[in-house]
Amino acid sequence: GTRRPLIAGNWKMHGLKVPAARTLGEIIEGYDPALRAGVDLLVCPPAPLLHMFSVVAVGSRVAIGAQDCHAEPLGAFTGEVSAEMIADAGATMVIVGHSERRAYCGESDGVVRGKALAARRARLTPIICVGETRQERDAGQALEVVGTQLFASVPDGPCDFVVAYEPVWAIGTGLTPTAQDVADMHAFMRDGLCKRFGAAADGVRLLYGGSVKPANAGELLAIADVDGALVGGASLVAADFLAIAGAA
Ligand code: G3H
Repeated sequence: GTRRPLIAGNWKMHGLKVPAARTLGEIIEGYDPALRAGVDLLVCPPAPLLHMFSVVAVGSRVAIGAQDCHAEPLGAFTGEVSAEMIADAGATMVIVGHSERRAYCGESDGVVRGKALAARRARLTPIICVGETRQERDAGQALEVVGTQLFASVPDGPCDFVVAYEPVWAIGTGLTPTAQDVADMHAFMRDGLCKRFGAAADGVRLLYGGSVKPANAGELLAIADVDGALVGGASLVAADFLAIAGAA
């Protein structure tokens, strides 16, 4: 296909400005013409660093994204950050529905869909996350669970979103599904999106996330319908993040 791979780094709650700026600088430095020709790079730092990162990354073609946004455009929501604020800070993408937010903040598929719509209104590209638990996979329900999450978390309208498949049990554990399981899931997600959206769904990038490291990135990124990766821990080390991008 014509989908350009996207390697996205989710820094989660890691990053103070001085060391973080150094790491971002190393990523920008390493995003050389050869890498730029083949792959998109996205760095998603904690919200307080979004503006600085966006300024530092100007002209580098490294995109900056947020890790979450609120569904409402503004209002009395103490501590929350709107999609428009994220765009105003210079970011172009936002992760929504990460499993940590689903688990710790009780975000339902409906909430995630609302956040994806808020992102669209602010002209941000949402990265909509889905994934089954270990228990669900062991029960043979992975496809069904992810299919339901995907259907309910993705808003109607244009195919202007990215999807990240992240098995909850693979996040931060060093475990990954087999290549066959990833291939099956991604083909299933593509099929579901095509049934709902038609041919436009062929352009939607489907990322894999969960313990992506330089050592396994080549195998994972070679799978059909895996159009990139959402990288947690390994994205905090510039050399590792760039090595993963180099494998795309
Ligand atoms: O958003 C990223 C994922 O949760 C993966 O995290 O690469 O540390 O397993 P990880």
